Amino acid sequence: MTKIFMTGITGLVGSAFVTALLKDRPDMHFVCLARGGKNRTAEDRLIEAVKAQCEFDGEAERFDEVMKHITVVDGDVVTLDAAALAADPRLEGVTEIFHCAADVNLGKDPTGKTFTINFNGTQNILALAKLLNVKAFHYVSTAYVAGRKRGVAMEAEAENHGYNNPYEESKAKAEKLVRESGFPFTIYRPGIITGRRSDGRIRRPLAFYRIIEFLAKMKSHQCKKMGIAPTEEVDLNIHFQVTPSERVYFTPIDFVQYAITKCYQLPVKNETYHVTGDRPVSTMMIDHAVCKTLKLALADISAPTNGGTENGKMMERFLGDLYPYFATDVTFSQTNIRKALGDEAMDWPYGQEELEIMMRNYFVDFFPEVEWIQQVVNNR
Ligand SMILES: NC(=O)c1ccc[n+]([C@@H]2O[C@H](COP(=O)([O-])OP(=O)(O)OC[C@H]3O[C@@H](n4cnc5c(N)ncnc54)[C@H](OP(=O)(O)O)[C@@H]3O)[C@@H](O)[C@H]2O)c1
Repeated sequence: MTKIFMTGITGLVGSAFVTALLKDRPDMHFVCLARGGKNRTAEDRLIEAVKAQCEFDGEAERFDEVMKHITVVDGDVVTLDAAALAADPRLEGVTEIFHCAADVNLGKDPTGKTFTINFNGTQNILALAKLLNVKAFHYVSTAYVAGRKRGVAMEAEAENHGYNNPYEESKAKAEKLVRESGFPFTIYRPGIITGRRSDGRIRRPLAFYRIIEFLAKMKSHQCKKMGIAPTEEVDLNIHFQVTPSERVYFTPIDFVQYAITKCYQLPVKNETYHVTGDRPVSTMMIDHAVCKTLKLALADISAPTNGGTENGKMMERFLGDLYPYFATDVTFSQTNIRKALGDEAMDWPYGQEELEIMMRNYFVDFFPEVEWIQQVVNNR
């Protein structure tokens, strides 16, 4: 039996990794650090996430078996006591660490919470790794450690071209800690995670999904104000003030799950993998897909001006933290990941049609009670 200490199992990526790895490697046992919250224990929250993941995988019946391979340890990456944890009998025999926990807030970080969780949290997990003398350290980073870089970003230590937010900086600095730790490591860098390739669905919609949720709410509000049915086509008169990108790396969650699981099983040789897929979409394609899904007139997407429309300004107040990801000019090199997975696993279609399916099923799954949304997305 191989014992892995892991963080982030309740999250989108962590739960997907556990169920997939156990399929390939039934000899694995996970010791998972998880937090309690809202009157629920860490164990309750972990169970809920694993159950939801098994259902999402279409294999609800695997839940009991998967749980036999998981031990829960209640804790927080920021406040954990590495020495006490290393002495905990539940961690005896741990030889590998998979550190996936992070605060994925892309906005401002006035209290330093995001930086502390991502940077100090990684420092703490590395301290634990040292006490446990593990053989391998696996770290889930982000492709956007590239920050404001333009051109080709390599699957190697990121250069500092400035960052769009404290999240990117915290992840880049945490990655550096891992690289310099002396442990054999593997670093996984996902893109912007979206719904799976088969039907566009996702267990936890994060980041980008805030934009389409916001637009749906804005349409609802606007229609009420104008006295028209939200099932009609509406012009929200939005100036989305970004220079549109040709390379937005939306990465389906099932590809992230597959790629990380496969790369995890390769010999650990200090490699970095861009888990972004090689099919970036353009900002204009996303605009078309959102507007078609929600029956909106196309938004004006162009370089920032001093003016902008009222709705455009409101949108920027709430969602401005996401704008840099729709104005990037970075290409993520795929050399290592292609070598690891083979060309066949990398060459899947992703474009307008897939974007529309992904958005439609997001609204089907997460807004089942909003009648107009269901009518619009189902009667297109
Ligand atoms: N989602 C994306 O688009 C994306 C893209 C690129 C990279 N990534 C990276 O992928 C990794 C996983 O993110 P995700 O997408 O799965 O996000 P997520 O669904 O929000 O999961 C984050 C996980 O981290 C845990 N966590 C956060 N703060 C913690 C703390 N102080 N102590 C212990 N655990 C803590 C969360 O636990 P709770 O349930 O207790 O909050 C959760 O399990 C992260 O390293 C992230 O940087 C994500």
